[in-house]
Amino acid sequence: MQPLQSPTKTPSPSRLINLLKLSSLILVAYLFVLLFILSTSKYSSLYSPLQELSTPMSLDHIVFSLFTSQDSWPKSKEYVKLWWNSRTMRGCAFLDRLPPDADSHNDTSSLPPLCVSEDTSRFRYTHGAQHRFQIRIARMVLEAVARNHSNVRWYVFGDDSTVFVTENLVKTLSKYDHRLWHYVGANSENLEQNREFGFKMAFLGAGFAISSPLAKVLARVIDSCIDRYAHLYGGDARVFACLAELGIGIIHEPGFHQFDIRGNALGLLTSHPVTPLVSIHSLDQIDPLFPGMNTLHALQHFFRAANADPQRVLQQTVCYDRWFSWTISVSWGYAIQVFPNHVYLPDAIKVGETFRHWRRGNLFTEAYVFNTRELHPVQCARPTIFFFEKISKSKDRTKTTYKRSYLNCTYDDGSPRKIKEIRVHAHKMDLTKKQLQAPRRQCCNVLPSSSNEALDIAIRECKEEELIYLHL
Ligand SMILES: *[C@@H]1O[C@H](CO)[C@@H](O)[C@H](O)[C@H]1NC(C)=O
Ligand SMILES: *[C@@H]1O[C@H](CO)[C@@H](O)[C@H](O)[C@H]1NC(C)=O
Ligand SMILES: *[C@@H]1O[C@H](CO)[C@@H](O)[C@H](O)[C@H]1NC(C)=O
Repeated sequence: MQPLQSPTKTPSPSRLINLLKLSSLILVAYLFVLLFILSTSKYSSLYSPLQELSTPMSLDHIVFSLFTSQDSWPKSKEYVKLWWNSRTMRGCAFLDRLPPDADSHNDTSSLPPLCVSEDTSRFRYTHGAQHRFQIRIARMVLEAVARNHSNVRWYVFGDDSTVFVTENLVKTLSKYDHRLWHYVGANSENLEQNREFGFKMAFLGAGFAISSPLAKVLARVIDSCIDRYAHLYGGDARVFACLAELGIGIIHEPGFHQFDIRGNALGLLTSHPVTPLVSIHSLDQIDPLFPGMNTLHALQHFFRAANADPQRVLQQTVCYDRWFSWTISVSWGYAIQVFPNHVYLPDAIKVGETFRHWRRGNLFTEAYVFNTRELHPVQCARPTIFFFEKISKSKDRTKTTYKRSYLNCTYDDGSPRKIKEIRVHAHKMDLTKKQLQAPRRQCCNVLPSSSNEALDIAIRECKEEELIYLHL
């Protein structure tokens, strides 16, 4: 008998045809891939959008416009110096007219160039406040776009006393597709301010961002809106009204802060939402951030922490000391509050009412858009506060030290007042896009300590099912 032919040795004719079919299929697929690669190469018109998407966002995709005046610039430029860097940032500080000694104000390394706003006398302003300068604010949109900067993804607007944490501004804006129409910012903390000016308005003091394609359209139509809304108070209200007419609403980002409060901002600062801090404002209305310093010095001190780990600054974590049942609320880089008792987490993250109201008048002027926690009427029964003192870095880890703030209170051995300093150990925070979109508060532990007068705390990511509560 003849052995059966092995098909692998000598293929039958039909098998051969199949093989041919397969190889031509592979060839066609290969050609398609080649075509796609070619079409996305720099010779094709597809090149720039794809390229643009793939470049991560950075500061040089932003054009800043800061609103100021000849009178306020000499003082407010000191705030701008805290965060401005001419090597990486573009934009203008818009003035009504140049200071008489303009050259001496033209510090090109640490301040934006001075730009004089165009004449606005042809526009009507009929609001009783007689703040015609508000028209200049609205026109910054047009005047910023008219400078024809290249490769702009966002136009960002602010007051001369808006202090930006620029890395966090970039992080926050990078969540959104800059090729679409976006208007990003925040309203006021105060209920009455929002009732009066708009819950959906981005307040200039907090700073706001408009994506490039939207800013270009807005620039073309804003003058007609300025005419139509002559009765409004603010420049930001004119921008908001014009965007509303274009059909665009705000994307609320809680990292921007208008700070319509007065006095001691500690309560608001220490309960920052779980999102990167983008801006602080109203610095002349609130007390210096740290006791015993003036406003500017305190801000410079704050930026020591903010520059070392921008994404972590003010981020609040809460842990409990089991032995004494203390509640320890860490607001990284700024202050730690140690409650002498157990405070449930939802109460610990409420905003302590350390500040005064922006205005008096009615129920709304004394109400806020978040839950507040009343302070204990007896000062010595309130949490002990430790303020940020210094920071040291090694590789991607930081150690921040916080010193107890002095209060003349008597206390016993179970009181957190016996602690003189707290040291916090943490990793430098680097949020991924997913973490930015779905933020989660971190956890902390009180570390075993050799000293009665010092406390060591480590901050870390929480475990999957970890709950923040007092384990008894
Ligand atoms: C400030 O400096 C820039 C760059 O050197 C220059 O273009 C601008 O005209 C100067 N402005 C004033 C007001 O001197
Ligand atoms: C910007 O571009 C427009 C239109 O091309 C032009 O009219 C204008 O002069 C340019 N402005 C500047 C500051 O270059
Ligand atoms: C602290 O308070 C006590 C009792 O009221 C008082 O005798 C003492 O002088 C105060 N000390 C300081 C430094 O103010």
